[in-house]
Amino acid sequence: MNMGNTLKPVKVGICGLGTVGGGTFNVLHRNARIITARAGRPVIIEQVGARRDNSDCDTGDINVTRDIFAVAHNPEIDILVETIGGYDVAKELILTAIEQGKHVVTANKALIAEHGNEIFQAARNKNVIVAYEAAVAGGIPIIKCLREGLSANSISWLAGIINGTGNYILTEMGDHNRPFADVLKEAQALGYAEADPTFDVEGIDACHKLTIMASIAFGIPLQFTKAYTEGISEITPSDIQYAASLGFRIKHLGVARKAANGIELRVHSTLIPSDRPLANINGVMNSVVVQGDGVGQTMYSGPGAGAEPTASSVIADIVDIARTIDAPDAAVNALGFSAESLSDTLPVLPITETVCSFYLRIHADDHPGVMNAVTRVLSRHGINIDAITQKVTREDDGCADIVILTHRTLEGTMDKAISELEALEDIKSPITRIRVETMA
Ligand code: HSE
Repeated sequence: MNMGNTLKPVKVGICGLGTVGGGTFNVLHRNARIITARAGRPVIIEQVGARRDNSDCDTGDINVTRDIFAVAHNPEIDILVETIGGYDVAKELILTAIEQGKHVVTANKALIAEHGNEIFQAARNKNVIVAYEAAVAGGIPIIKCLREGLSANSISWLAGIINGTGNYILTEMGDHNRPFADVLKEAQALGYAEADPTFDVEGIDACHKLTIMASIAFGIPLQFTKAYTEGISEITPSDIQYAASLGFRIKHLGVARKAANGIELRVHSTLIPSDRPLANINGVMNSVVVQGDGVGQTMYSGPGAGAEPTASSVIADIVDIARTIDAPDAAVNALGFSAESLSDTLPVLPITETVCSFYLRIHADDHPGVMNAVTRVLSRHGINIDAITQKVTREDDGCADIVILTHRTLEGTMDKAISELEALEDIKSPITRIRVETMA
């Protein structure tokens, strides 16, 4: 193999030797020859900054420091790899590295989603690259696909299963009729969950990833705080079974859609027709579907978490930087659009102004007239029913579940209808509401 290594080596400093940092360290070592050949120059781990060792990584004679900021100040380092996670220290580390003229590769979705606008501006000021492929959907090269492969297209929407823990939990609940809390414990033991698992189950992790993808898809600044987020903790095995009987699966989705009056950015559990490919992405796998005007619908699937899948994305960024290190001006813009063309003229819509079809599960006293009362409320609000069914529950409480699918309805209208329904004497609160997406 022609090693193509006549050029000056690129020296990398890895900060954080946990799951992702450790995976990056090991894959860089194992595949050094092929990575060098692809980068056109050797890629060398010059230094590791880690508060503790990782028994899976043989650091040998590599310079290991407990002071991660020493890596940011080391004049030998060309690229600082940030895999420590979290907010404050990681942000200070990245801004220090940028200030020192270093390129940065990060897997930190929370930091990019919430502080990316500031970080990218700092990088532009110093003419360095901040790359973050590993921040979204682990090993799937979705940033590269959106930013480069689909650059010809006007993108109208994208939707993705972008939290492996959440998808694992919903899959297990559905396949084995297991309660939510039980499966969450297992996901934590398997190492899928974030340090704070509420980030996974309350949709925050998915919202970070959606925020980033939406900016690249639509050319808008990162606007995490304007996105709507719901988790999966309200979903019951009964909902999964009722949805299945109607021909749907329940998945936790991030959805970004360009509507006439604004941009929908929402993360929530979603009914998807069970014959759609996205409905069949199970376990810890991630998948993103993108609708472009030229290409049509494309879908990208793969492992969304784990040491080496995420390392695959970190190293792809390192190789990209190594290829353009002598001409960083030629690198792709951080969000795929020139900074001056990013625009927030089209606002992110409040959830009440978005339009969706809905699944409703209404736990109600099982006696004559209840169904009639429910449909009258929906009809008064102009909500068109697509399907309606009643199931007697296994709980011996004299109640039944009324399950309804609606046509597309303004969320604010649905809010009002649900409030009225919950005020009816025969209805037990709260009503479960799950949005429906056809993926068409
Ligand atoms: N906790 C995340 C997940 C890891 O479950 O998808 C990757 O971001």
